[in-house]
Amino acid sequence: MRKSGKIAASALARSLENIKPGVVELEVDKIAEREIYKLGGDLSYKTVPGYKYATCITVNEEVVHGIPTDREFIKNDLVSVDLAVMYKGWHTDCAWTKLIGKDREKEKFLQIGEQALWEATGQAMAGNRIGDISAAIQKRVEGAGYNVVRSLVGHGVGRSLHENPQIPGVGAAGRGMVLKEGMTLAIEVIYTRGREEVVLGSDGWTFKTADGSWGGLFEMTVIVGSKQAEVLTDWRKV
Ligand code: MF3
Ligand code: CO
Repeated sequence: MRKSGKIAASALARSLENIKPGVVELEVDKIAEREIYKLGGDLSYKTVPGYKYATCITVNEEVVHGIPTDREFIKNDLVSVDLAVMYKGWHTDCAWTKLIGKDREKEKFLQIGEQALWEATGQAMAGNRIGDISAAIQKRVEGAGYNVVRSLVGHGVGRSLHENPQIPGVGAAGRGMVLKEGMTLAIEVIYTRGREEVVLGSDGWTFKTADGSWGGLFEMTVIVGSKQAEVLTDWRKV
């Protein structure tokens, strides 16, 4: 899973650096795919029935599970890339949201999501509970006046892309399953600037906010440690 995570992190880094005005979503998907294959990985999303891309790409009011299209990125887009890798049968999953250009409100929105993610991964240590992770996300996101999407969750990850337990972005500290050293989790911060309700788009995959407000997505795969989590998919370190 460490090797799988390194491949995922590299693919995410390559994807993010190529998100700019005039580039189309499908080009970024291809860049991620090429990087994953180049490093000896395989596409985890191929294990999802009916899905045949390396990534999910979502823009602005889209929240998750966006099929890469031929839409061109433009200035001020908020763009999320979500991708997963399979290496020797071991899956890792990660996502990040990037702003094209400069915008105070959007930068603040992203900064809170990222902060919520690191605070949540900081809870992934033995003896803590799933609720500690959820509560960390909820506190940071709602504390800034944003909302956590209730219907979408993080998850266990390993031999399959999606495993138990579910990891909601809202919950009570001290509640839920006790974490043990060596568990591998995909911790996800899925949030909106407005109301938390999401609706499924006409393509049957893409979830968007019901009120048209921005969506943000930050996800890392971690190993629960005795004292701290080991982050496997940190694209900033590749
Ligand atoms: N990466 C997504 C998650 O975090 C899963 C996307 S599955 C797909 O769970 F089929 F929509 F790509
Ligand atoms: Co995930």
